[in-house]
Amino acid sequence: MKIADLITSRRNIKKFKPDPLDKNKVLEWLDAASWAPNHKMTEPWEILFVGPETRAEINHKIDFGGAPVVMVILSKKGKTEVEREENMAATACFIQNFMLAAWSEGVGTFWSSAAASKRSRDILNISDEYDVVGVISAGYPEEIPEPKPRTPISQKIKELS
Ligand SMILES: Cc1cc2nc3c(=O)[nH]c(=O)nc-3n(C[C@H](O)[C@H](O)[C@H](O)COP(=O)(O)O)c2cc1C
Repeated sequence: MKIADLITSRRNIKKFKPDPLDKNKVLEWLDAASWAPNHKMTEPWEILFVGPETRAEINHKIDFGGAPVVMVILSKKGKTEVEREENMAATACFIQNFMLAAWSEGVGTFWSSAAASKRSRDILNISDEYDVVGVISAGYPEEIPEPKPRTPISQKIKELS
């Protein structure tokens, strides 16, 4: 499949099959994800695998769609505000890489900001050194939602002299 088709066919999956995921596969996709661009090679991402007990404590409104794997993706803040912004951008690239690597093998993902609240950060024991960029649930999709149309890119482009 062309990479552009992989990108456009990926959806935010809200309901997963209970079938387990091969942990080695997940690690393979995370490893591929870590080839994301990152300024000064800060490699700011860190991954928390969240087990069922902790998930229940977070009490997410859709219970992570019943996904077999739930990960919280953190980004190290670094020393300056510029570094923090760059690190969050790099970690977003990391997440997208992971989602596409998984999707290329039929595994769907759900990106939520469920762990950004103070309460969730406390449950997950996340220190002030980190931003939470997303909670990524992964598994085989039970349902694939219809695509949400995008604004034609021509409307987003300005040509400067
Ligand atoms: C930073 C970020 C946070 C998000 N948080 C949520 C969320 O809390 N709940 C949710 O349903 N979707 C969340 N999403 C997913 C978007 O809603 C989803 O990507 C968008 O609706 C487009 O759908 P698609 O990814 O299926 O094309 C988040 C996406 C990003 C990039």
